[in-house]
Amino acid sequence: MTAPRSPLPSSGKLLIATRNEGKIREIRDLFTGLPFRLAFPADQFLERLPDERDLERGTSFAENAVAKARYFAKRGNVPTLAEDSGLEVDALEGAPGVFSARWAAMHGSPEGDAANNALLLERLAGVPDEQRTARYRCVVAYLETPLAKPQLVEATCEGRILTAPRGTDGFGYDPLFYSLDLASSFGEVPLAAKQRVSHRGRAIRALIEVLVRRPA
Ligand code: IMP
Repeated sequence: MTAPRSPLPSSGKLLIATRNEGKIREIRDLFTGLPFRLAFPADQFLERLPDERDLERGTSFAENAVAKARYFAKRGNVPTLAEDSGLEVDALEGAPGVFSARWAAMHGSPEGDAANNALLLERLAGVPDEQRTARYRCVVAYLETPLAKPQLVEATCEGRILTAPRGTDGFGYDPLFYSLDLASSFGEVPLAAKQRVSHRGRAIRALIEVLVRRPA
């Protein structure tokens, strides 16, 4: 029996273009047991430079995902996967959307999950349950070489915004996001359950399918 062939060129290394601890934990888990050698910016000695802040200034998840993949693929010079994701709340006309990570900071609060969640509850105060519909969206971009055409995959997961946090697992808006698939908040389920239905789990599994089926 022969060992599974690495679907990636050269060493099979795949640079994951994120420094977000919540995403790193989930992406590592999604690649468990697969023939990829994941590397993260810190492992590659790619220190944070001031221009990294400009990577998420696009107007769509796809634009931001490609910008991050391109930037890190150039710096790391290995196949690179980046994702951009966020929460879209229908009663807020799709906000915070691409601004999810720094939403509160854009409104004069400190940057971070606690302030983002507080702002979300404030903006939805008095909105009835049936109008608190929302979804997470994730776009994954893969670049085999720094100047290659990006491979893009997009996925969503549907839910509702709770009136108070439930659970402490996950990251970001998870304690306020009630998943319709799980009938629980993402803050109160184990990682494996979130991964089965989440925007990131769905998008990354779909990209892995594409990569492992590709001819060498
Ligand atoms: P970015 O893709 O680095 O711009 O950050 C995405 C932001 O969207 C995160 O900082 C979170 O605020 C939010 N977000 C994206 N995915 C998730 C998730 O799975 N759980 C909770 N919040 C998320």
